[in-house]
Amino acid sequence: IPLAGVIGMPVAHSRSPQLHGYWLRQYGIRGHYVPLPVMPEHLAEVLRILPRAGFVGVNVTIPHKEAVLALADVVTDRAALIGAANTLIFRADGKIHADNTDGYGFIANLRQNAPDWQPDAGPAALIGAGGAARAVVASLLDSGVKELRITNRTRIRSEQIKAEFGARLVVYDWAQAGNMLDNATTVVNATSLGMQGKQALRIPLDALNPDALVTDLVYTPLMTPFLTDAQSRGCRIVDGLGMLLHQAVPGFERWFGTRPEVNDDTRRAVL
Ligand code: ATR
Repeated sequence: IPLAGVIGMPVAHSRSPQLHGYWLRQYGIRGHYVPLPVMPEHLAEVLRILPRAGFVGVNVTIPHKEAVLALADVVTDRAALIGAANTLIFRADGKIHADNTDGYGFIANLRQNAPDWQPDAGPAALIGAGGAARAVVASLLDSGVKELRITNRTRIRSEQIKAEFGARLVVYDWAQAGNMLDNATTVVNATSLGMQGKQALRIPLDALNPDALVTDLVYTPLMTPFLTDAQSRGCRIVDGLGMLLHQAVPGFERWFGTRPEVNDDTRRAVL
């Protein structure tokens, strides 16, 4: 019976066991997916032992997403570029394969919920420059966005991303975040602002084009103050839960041999 799981610390909050457990039941697959709390100092040892204990792979969450790159035998180009992995495959030959599916999940969520979204219709505007933002940058550039504007409270993190990802990025000062929205056709919040228990993301949306597609990586709550504001200005919005669901698809398929579907039932299963 194939085993998979999610390694993190803490890991109790992760929705992944609910999601993969739902798919395993739905497709009648004999397998298990478990939360695995792992301390950073035990990460290398745990990764050596899991394949011998019947694990075919794991998802990786905070704080291990960067550290696993150095412990993997094969790292995909996109995981290397993003500087983090969220999906490990323990191959039959003993090698550990590390990938990052967050960018795939981000784009798949937009394509599913806004089928006529055109990445190259105009500039994209990204708020945030943390780990999650890096995956969004990689996937938006891959999708053909011609100009990617980025702003972050700590400006040097946006400048670092521009230095790594190149000429299509334009760095805006945090104080200029409102101006960054002018003409943008894709707008993304990749900060943790708006999450339950945190402050709202407060950016003046007066320059926001009502034709823009606006999305948030935060999914607790599903409707963040930022999305509510954008929707009231006529924008099409996509919440962040679908990214979580779609990023899980490639791992599930590799581990359990069935490509799972993401739909409203899947959403209900993790809420
Ligand atoms: P993740 O991997 O989830 O992206 P992260 O690397 O800690 O986590 O990044 C969190 C993001 O939210 C960053 O863009 C962070 O801005 P800083 O780089 O300036 O820290 C942003 N963020 C978190 N709290 C914030 C706040 N109170 N005001 C503005 N930005 C905030």
